[in-house]
Amino acid sequence: MKIRIGPGTSADTRIVLVYQDRGSPPRSRAKGVGPAVAALMRSGDFAGRFLETVVLPIGRRPLRRVVVVGAGRRSELTEHRVRLWAGQGARRARELGAASIALEIPEVRGEGETIVEVAVEGACLGNYRFTRYRSEPGPSPARRIDVLSPGPERERRNHDAAAQRGAKSAAAIVLARDLVATPGQDLPPEALAARAKEIARAAGARIRVLGVPELRRLGMGAVLAVGRGSAHPPRFIVLEREPGRGARTSSRSAKRTPTVVLIGKGVTFDTGGISLKPHEGMSRMKYDMAGAAAVLGVFAALPSLDLPFRVVGLVPSAENMPGGTALKPGDVVRAIDGTTIDVINTDAEGRLLLADALGYAKRYEPEAVIDLATLTGSISIALGRQAAGLFTADDALARELSEAGECAGERLWRMPLWESYTDELRRGIADLENSGSREGGACIAAAFLAHFARGLTWAHLDIASTAWAFGDQTLEPRGPTGFGVRLLLRWLRARAETVRRSAAKH
Ligand code: BES
Ligand code: MN
Ligand code: ZN
Repeated sequence: MKIRIGPGTSADTRIVLVYQDRGSPPRSRAKGVGPAVAALMRSGDFAGRFLETVVLPIGRRPLRRVVVVGAGRRSELTEHRVRLWAGQGARRARELGAASIALEIPEVRGEGETIVEVAVEGACLGNYRFTRYRSEPGPSPARRIDVLSPGPERERRNHDAAAQRGAKSAAAIVLARDLVATPGQDLPPEALAARAKEIARAAGARIRVLGVPELRRLGMGAVLAVGRGSAHPPRFIVLEREPGRGARTSSRSAKRTPTVVLIGKGVTFDTGGISLKPHEGMSRMKYDMAGAAAVLGVFAALPSLDLPFRVVGLVPSAENMPGGTALKPGDVVRAIDGTTIDVINTDAEGRLLLADALGYAKRYEPEAVIDLATLTGSISIALGRQAAGLFTADDALARELSEAGECAGERLWRMPLWESYTDELRRGIADLENSGSREGGACIAAAFLAHFARGLTWAHLDIASTAWAFGDQTLEPRGPTGFGVRLLLRWLRARAETVRRSAAKH
């Protein structure tokens, strides 16, 4: 996507923001549009309600049409509302076959950069569709987005940087969506690892892909167990990106580089294994690597962030299949930390992968570990599709992540992480059983993980409820959402800010 900032545009479609408030008359620098919208508002045909949309055909070239999108009340405008506003405009523009679009956003004092960033991000997302497997891909998406910025040169440069950040973030989300949308047959663990290598190379990150012999040597019996029934053996993908150059100077960081670890569940297809899932909706289980996709998406965008700490990505990847060699209910496997697990249900495979990943994460002595996983159907029963489940014992981390999620428009809701949830998992022949009662399933799963995260500052995000959209949304068509990318990018930036501010104080 080409992004351009400037006072003028030759785009064929212009997206104009109009507030609902009486006191703010519609404005546009396209001739005649302001008065035309004012007339629509007087007649009551358009009120400027949030995401209300009307298209004005324009005879003159190159401008073919103006898409007027309501922004609701000015006082209710938030970062995420701007994102949705732009997404709505771009989506409509796409339906109309726009080749290029221009965003016309009124000045909002002091917040111009954020607004430009999220508007570009939203427009890129509204423009998105996954057409790789279509013989007739339909009208091609817009290839250029202009942002009309009438301000002085200096301001324009800041706006340009913000717009590029927004585009990078959107590209990362699109990358995650494309990975999730790709059928299981075309993205088994080795293919996911190959994609991870490309992503790491482009992002200036180191990457190691551990295969079966290395997993054996490391004692990652849980990852090996999940992958045992598949013709495509498991992989454990490790990405490491060192901090930006500006961060190496402080004496504290010279001793040990502070590290944040992101873990993504990478089940490239989840049949349930021998504890086979029912056939209804099973095709969606290609999405069981949405956590991995989010982590890889974040890595793709890291070069645009300049973080003062190391970021490590861990992706345990396997295909959960039944078969002659598959893991069986009642089998006992040993995780990397020595814990023995009695596999009651082979469909509770995500927690097995994460057990080994959490154990592996400890070698970095990280400041924080976040895992993202489409872990339980139960989280959707608890929260619906409005939020992902947030499980952590750390109140500060909970606050940081919740705030990042609110800004990103990717909601988290905190769930309990009581150790007593694991009581019912301690009755088998091994240290822990991998599955308990249906009631509170998401909480039991999280408590199981907590056993392997002992000693870590850790949060678990159960994204099974949010990683897939069941109908078209403003920012995402039906299908993979890329949930977690925006949230994590926000969180990493906020954390970088905190580190810089405390470094400046000392
Ligand atoms: N990948 C699924 C989670 C899932 C299930 C997401 C249904 C969306 C819809 C996970 O591996 C799984 O199968 N979890 C089981 C756990 C149970 C066997 C303890 C579940 O939630 O049913
Ligand atoms: Mn499963
Ligand atoms: Zn699964």
